[in-house]
Amino acid sequence: MPALTTVGKPLPMQIERGEGARLFDAEGNAFWDFYGGHAVALLGQAHPRWVRAISEQAARLSFVTTLAPTSVRDRANASLCAFARMDRSFLVNSGAEANEAALKVARKATGRSRIVAMQGGFHGRTMACLGVTESGHYRTDHAPIHGEATFVPFGDVEALRAAVDDRVAAVLIEPIQGIAGAIEAPAGFLSAARAICDGVGAALILDEVQTGIGRTGEALAWHAEPGCDPDLVTVGKSLGAGFPVAALLLTEAMAQTCEPGEHGSTFGGAPLACAALLAVLDAIEQEDLLARAQALEAQVRALAPPSVTVRGRGCLLGLVLDRPAAPIATALRADGFLVGTSNDARCLRLCPPAVMPPDAVEGLITALCAALSE
Ligand SMILES: Cc1ncc(COP(=O)(O)O)c(C=O)c1O
Repeated sequence: MPALTTVGKPLPMQIERGEGARLFDAEGNAFWDFYGGHAVALLGQAHPRWVRAISEQAARLSFVTTLAPTSVRDRANASLCAFARMDRSFLVNSGAEANEAALKVARKATGRSRIVAMQGGFHGRTMACLGVTESGHYRTDHAPIHGEATFVPFGDVEALRAAVDDRVAAVLIEPIQGIAGAIEAPAGFLSAARAICDGVGAALILDEVQTGIGRTGEALAWHAEPGCDPDLVTVGKSLGAGFPVAALLLTEAMAQTCEPGEHGSTFGGAPLACAALLAVLDAIEQEDLLARAQALEAQVRALAPPSVTVRGRGCLLGLVLDRPAAPIATALRADGFLVGTSNDARCLRLCPPAVMPPDAVEGLITALCAALSE
């Protein structure tokens, strides 16, 4: 029975295995993975630390009800909160599930229901997440849409101020809009949003599902901007580096509004997910992956030809071309480089593993220059 394909046009090759930052198809062709599986594969493929952690955990405790405390989950929660500079965490399975939880907490904590989100933003494909996702077909395909939301231009402080009043439960922002094409919030926007939320008692939610867990060269992207400490943060993707795990991170004040039993998840915080998460945080620290992500960005910026504008940070970069990006992505694939596209038709999206070697980055830019000159 053929699979139901709903996520987009399938790539024309069958990937069989991976090694570090490279993928191999069934015919033995190799590809440098500059797409990182939708920004998930922060450690590349089959990272020994990650493989060992999951294997050892599988041999010790495969699964137990999340009502039972486990040492691996205690360690995962503590390490994640320290890494993210947040007080509490609630582990779930996907970015959308984390955002659903954030919306529930913000609504309950404030007693309000309106959300102000950004034009061009993306927060997931469940119904409540579509309710706060403005961009493209994700929303229009599934009308009528759930929830009350207002959308303001990303980065426009005055429009945000005008939209946020005492009926607003939360302002929801991606510090760098990923699927939109690695578009950064202008400097000062997140701290202005913090102040605007404080003025009316609304919560500030940062969606770091794509930007978080080292991808931008910071533990979380908001750490780069002083004065924007959020009430709620969501992370996923790189958090498990291939094992499904995501999280809602909360301040203590937000956590205090949650009561036992009002939210839950069968698989959230499962032992294998916690082991994967711990291995990822360990690898980031032991292998200096924040610095490597920063170095990758610096290398791309230094090598990119003048006709290409580079935006984004670390291992989440947009290469804005002077022409449609999709045919260039196809040409790069033929040369052995897998890259992503975005909702900006002229923007190639790179979300490579932080372990991508510098000579592969050089190879990508050489292949890009060749494709652009044809
Ligand atoms: C910023 C952002 N938030 C949320 C999501 C949804 O995450 P998931 O697909 O794990 O539900 C995504 C997925 O691309 C994302 O980029």
